[in-house]
Amino acid sequence: MRKDKSYMFRLLCSACLIFTINLTTTAQNNGFSPGALWPDNNAVHINAHGGGILYQKGTYYWFGEHKIPGEAGNTAQVGVHCYSSKNLYNWKDEGIALKVSNDTANDIAKGCILERPKVVYNKLTNKYVMWFHLELLGKGYDAARTGVAISNNVAGPYTFLKSYRPNAGFMPFYMPGTPENEKINKQHPANKSDSIFFRDFPTGQMARDMTIFVDDDGKAYHIFSSEENNTLHLAELTNDYTGHTGKFIRIYIGHSTEAPALFKRHGKYYMIGSGCTGWAPNAARWFSANSIWGPWTYQGNPCKGDRAKLTFGGQSTFVLPVAGKNDAFIFMADKWAPKDAIDGRYIWLPITFNGDKPEIKWLNNWNLDVFQN
Ligand code: DGJ
Repeated sequence: MRKDKSYMFRLLCSACLIFTINLTTTAQNNGFSPGALWPDNNAVHINAHGGGILYQKGTYYWFGEHKIPGEAGNTAQVGVHCYSSKNLYNWKDEGIALKVSNDTANDIAKGCILERPKVVYNKLTNKYVMWFHLELLGKGYDAARTGVAISNNVAGPYTFLKSYRPNAGFMPFYMPGTPENEKINKQHPANKSDSIFFRDFPTGQMARDMTIFVDDDGKAYHIFSSEENNTLHLAELTNDYTGHTGKFIRIYIGHSTEAPALFKRHGKYYMIGSGCTGWAPNAARWFSANSIWGPWTYQGNPCKGDRAKLTFGGQSTFVLPVAGKNDAFIFMADKWAPKDAIDGRYIWLPITFNGDKPEIKWLNNWNLDVFQN
């Protein structure tokens, strides 16, 4: 009898556990709650920091830095995490797309710094190409390299190809004869960033915070903080997206822009970035250009309202055009937690347009209905 009772009790407990697990795994998100924990399909907070999104055949794939608890989480102990979603609210864990290596001599050795991964699809080679900012094991932020990996499958596994500082021996490209560019060139006063540019000219330019942008004509660009983070570079990638062509421009010389995120609207190019204050938030900044090759014009802070001066506690990582909607862009930012990296949060907010000017306002909760059509 005693035995029966305890058997029944254990049976009941197991049933309750299964019921609870089921409840949590099937819990559906029906909107965005910026800064809150964001459970995936396993009810685990999404682990994809400094990320970017690739939309492929009706599915969004979110790639980001996998963090572990504590300060060690600021280094790459695992790799790049991938999630998939059909509606942007609910994300399925697709596992680690690019794993760090256990070989300490490997460029992407466990414990290196691997940040801001972005994945694009190349139609010519039918490959997925992942770019990221790479710092070699044990060298702090000195290496300032970019790294690239490829895969036949969107969610990976990705194979690491190489890491380097781009555009060694190349001078920047400016469209000669474009009056606006001529004006900017003449106005640009000598800057301490110039000497860093020339210091690195023979060996390649430093490449830290970054994004990748693919234009309507299929050309891809790597936009990154260079010259000791003083100046942004926008550089063309080769047709297979796995290298640099040597054609690039310098943007907002000497003004320390990080965290670039690019998008295109009505034929015009937009970029949102941040200042340079480590993990601490600062004011976002936006730029626009009529040609990808510039001139890129600084336009001020797109954030409005309370805490706009600190980007609501976040830092840009990507701007996502919403598939199937007109004029619908999501500003994606990270709220970093350097003391406990895994607890970093995501701040996703809709971008609204006042004429040609993007504006970002805080919302506690929102969903895609904010976009008209
Ligand atoms: C700010 C950058 O945007 C991050 O990606 C990271 O590199 C931190 N700095 C490190 O301090």
